[in-house]
Amino acid sequence: MAKLKLPVPPIPPQLKPLPKRPGKVYGPQTPLEHAGEAAATAVGWIDERTSLSGAARWMMFRKVPKGTNWFYTLGSATMFSFLSQAVTGIFLAMYYVPSSTRAYESIRYINNDVFLGEFVHGMHKWGSSMMVILIFLHMGRTFFFGAYKYPRELNWVIGVVLLILTMTMSFTGYLLPFDQRSYWASIVGVNINGTGPLVGPYLSDFLRAGPNFGATTLSRFYAIHMLLLPGAIAALMGFHLYLVAKLGTTAPPWQRATSSEELREEQVSS
Ligand code: HEM
Repeated sequence: MAKLKLPVPPIPPQLKPLPKRPGKVYGPQTPLEHAGEAAATAVGWIDERTSLSGAARWMMFRKVPKGTNWFYTLGSATMFSFLSQAVTGIFLAMYYVPSSTRAYESIRYINNDVFLGEFVHGMHKWGSSMMVILIFLHMGRTFFFGAYKYPRELNWVIGVVLLILTMTMSFTGYLLPFDQRSYWASIVGVNINGTGPLVGPYLSDFLRAGPNFGATTLSRFYAIHMLLLPGAIAALMGFHLYLVAKLGTTAPPWQRATSSEELREEQVSS
C-alpha cells in the first residue's frame, strides 16, 4: 500500500510579506520596529540552522473539522493549567524545605514573609484542583465525541496514563505542607494503596520509603511530586500532542459528512 504523507502546509497569506509600493518608506523606523526586526532576524538565524519552522507550521497550522467548538479548548486549558503549576511550583521550590521538622515552618514562611508568597502558593494549591477538573472535562469531551475510537485509541490510552499521573501529583503534593491534616490523610491514602492486589503492598512500601511513615517519606513524596511526575507528564503530553497533530481531531458526532455530490459541486464552483 502506498504510504500517504501529507505535505507541510504552505506559509499562510497573513505571514507572507506584502509587495512593495512606490513612494512608501520600508524597513524599521521606530525603536519598537527595530526590536521586532531584531527578534525576527534571531528567529530566522535559528530556523536557517534547524529548519524548525516547518515542524512549527505542521503543528500549528492544521485543518480542523467543521463544527469545532469551545469544547475542543479543554485539552489546551489542561495543558496551560499544568504549565501554571510548573511555574508556580518552581517558585515554591525556592523556599520549601522537604524536612519533617522544617516543612511546615517553610510553608508558613512562604505565606507570611515571602513577597507574593501567599499568592503563588494559593495559585498552586487552587490550580491543582483546576487541573483535575479540566482533565476530567477534557476526558468527558473526548469520550462523548467518540474520539477514543480508531485511529485514536493510543491517544486515549496515553490520556488515561496522564490522568493517573495527574491524580498522583495531587496525592503526593497533599503531604508537602506537613500539617496534621496532610499527614494523616496521606497515611490513609498510602494504606488504601497497600490494599491493592499483588502490587499494593510494594507500592505503599515504595511511597513510604520503607515499612513506616517517617522522615524519609516526605523526601520521597517531594522527589516524586517535583521531579518524577512532572517529567513523565511533560514527555507524555508531548507525545499526546504529536498524535493530535498527526491524526487531526474528531468532528463533533452531530456533524454529518458532506455527500460526494455536494463535494463535487463545491469543487467545480470554487
Ligand atoms: C495532562 C493532561 C492532558 C492534556 C494536556 C491534553 C491535551 C490535549 C489537547 C490539547 C488535545 C487537542 C484538542 C482537544 O481536544 O482538546 C487533546 C486531544 C485528545 N485527548 Fe487529551 N489531554 C490530556 C489528557 C487526556 C485524557 C485524560 C484523555 C482521556 C483519557 C485524553 C484523550 C484525548 C483524545 C482521545 C484526544 C483526541 C481528540 C480528538 O481527536 O478529537 N486526553 N488532548
